[in-house]
Amino acid sequence: MKGEHLTQFLIHEQRKSPAATGEFTLLLSDVATACKAIAHAVNRGALAGHLGVAGSENVQGEVQKKLDVISNDLFIRSLEWTGHLAGMASEENDQVIPIPSGYPRGKYLICFDPLDGSSNIDVNISVGTIFSILRAPDGVTQPSEQDFLQPGTQQVAAGFCVYGPSTVMVLTTGSGVNGFTLDRDVGEFILTHPNLRIPADTAEFAINMSNRRYWEEPVRRYVDECVQGKDGVREKNFNMRWVASMVAEVYRILTRGGIFLYPFDTRDPSKGGRLRLMYEANPMSFIVEQAGGLASTGRERIMEIQPHSIHQRVPVILGSKNEVERVVSYHG
Ligand code: F6P
Ligand code: MN
Repeated sequence: MKGEHLTQFLIHEQRKSPAATGEFTLLLSDVATACKAIAHAVNRGALAGHLGVAGSENVQGEVQKKLDVISNDLFIRSLEWTGHLAGMASEENDQVIPIPSGYPRGKYLICFDPLDGSSNIDVNISVGTIFSILRAPDGVTQPSEQDFLQPGTQQVAAGFCVYGPSTVMVLTTGSGVNGFTLDRDVGEFILTHPNLRIPADTAEFAINMSNRRYWEEPVRRYVDECVQGKDGVREKNFNMRWVASMVAEVYRILTRGGIFLYPFDTRDPSKGGRLRLMYEANPMSFIVEQAGGLASTGRERIMEIQPHSIHQRVPVILGSKNEVERVVSYHG
């Protein structure tokens, strides 16, 4: 119900499944607490000396921003003690993150990108946190990387929080998608966007056009046809947006439709794409599909990919159903 706060919403959902123990509700509530702490750190920005680079690189060879490191620590510290998790995997950590000895283990695994869109931090453009929750295989209390490598169809929940003009958390547990706005005065996420739905048609696309010369033919054809607008085969004009923050891009698509592409490109063919499957592509695909959209690599449904490593990259094409289907058909 619009206006209820996140914990209320989760408990109402929990009561619908009599077998639920409440562990999952508590886990999601702890994830929300982590996001509130990160929202605060992002919001303080330069006042707290949080901007700029940390002077290190992550496992992906990306320069880490101070806020990447701060957000990663806040997320880990907020969740490691709770007893709901068997292990964690982060964009910023090479290996899976064990639960420190001394804390109880739970039955869930979480994969997360603590601060998506890092290139936007210092220029005061929206960034966000993305997470994907899986079940730990039966009896596993010290998960290895292998235990995380489950296809996206196995996700129990997924969500993201976008730190923009307002802080908004988007969540799916597999029965639709809901959006909650952080009310800073009371410190709660309030359900403001119940049952988000992505329209099947759109006239808005998002892609990093500077990579055009590296794309494969089907993507080049699709984007060129959008750009030709009324004068081309599509016979209608398209608009383009590129925030370079996937969280902002997906939130826009959930709000008014659109298509987002980060396709395979030939800059480094060994990488297989730009975005990471386990903590970017899978959670966003789950959310988009639950809102009536589609998510594909162009050749297969993202959520059906059998992962081979936690930092694996994949091509991502997601959003309004009819447009994603068109791009997929161009790959056929
Ligand atoms: O974490 C990956 C990411 O920051 C996404 O949020 C965004 O879509 C993409 O990288 C931006 O990449 P580029 O540098 O090509 O604009
Ligand atoms: Mn990211």
